[in-house]
Amino acid sequence: MTTIVVAMGEKNEIGSDNQLLWHLPKDLKHFKELTSGHPIIMGRKTYESIGKALPNRTNIVVSRKKDWFQEGVLIVGSIKEAVKFAKKIDENIFIIGGGNIYEQTMEIADRLEVTLVKTQLKADTFFPKINSKIWKLSEEICHEKDEKNQYDFCFQTYERING
Ligand SMILES: NC(=O)c1ccc[n+]([C@@H]2O[C@H](COP(=O)([O-])OP(=O)(O)OC[C@H]3O[C@@H](n4cnc5c(N)ncnc54)[C@H](OP(=O)(O)O)[C@@H]3O)[C@@H](O)[C@H]2O)c1
Repeated sequence: MTTIVVAMGEKNEIGSDNQLLWHLPKDLKHFKELTSGHPIIMGRKTYESIGKALPNRTNIVVSRKKDWFQEGVLIVGSIKEAVKFAKKIDENIFIIGGGNIYEQTMEIADRLEVTLVKTQLKADTFFPKINSKIWKLSEEICHEKDEKNQYDFCFQTYERING
């Protein structure tokens, strides 16, 4: 199973200036629960935005740079290679962004784990449109904002139709 994980606003916005648009500890916890123990694949810019390897998961970073090295992460030159290595480690792999990587992996994903954040913010990076002819919403759990989580949001699972 290849799963895309994303948190996006109502306009599919996901980032600005190589950062996330919100601070939602409940979503970070959800992300950790989904991905811990499984390989995660990300673009070089998302890796730089996080700034370190995430613990308890094999971190695979995709980059075309030839002379780029980071401690504690597996760097590969293509998405195909990233998926090949990840699948050798575990059948369940997670693609964690960013926008550029999502665009290129929607067609190979079996499932989308979306956090829909109930806001519209200025952004420079977006998630591709989720085509309802291809994706079916199979589960939705919503949470209201509180003192630590600044927006209402819903955890949504989409499954590929006839996938
Ligand atoms: N809200 C969310 O859930 C979420 C999740 C993740 C990221 N984000 C946000 O998204 C933004 C970053 O996304 P982004 O679209 O700018 O960048 P990105 O997808 O993280 O990374 C793009 C980089 O990946 C490498 N790359 C992409 N396709 C490749 C391919 N086919 N083969 C080899 N390397 C490839 C290239 O690295 P090189 O330039 O090194 O060659 C490219 O510059 C940030 O704002 C971040 O905070 C949000």
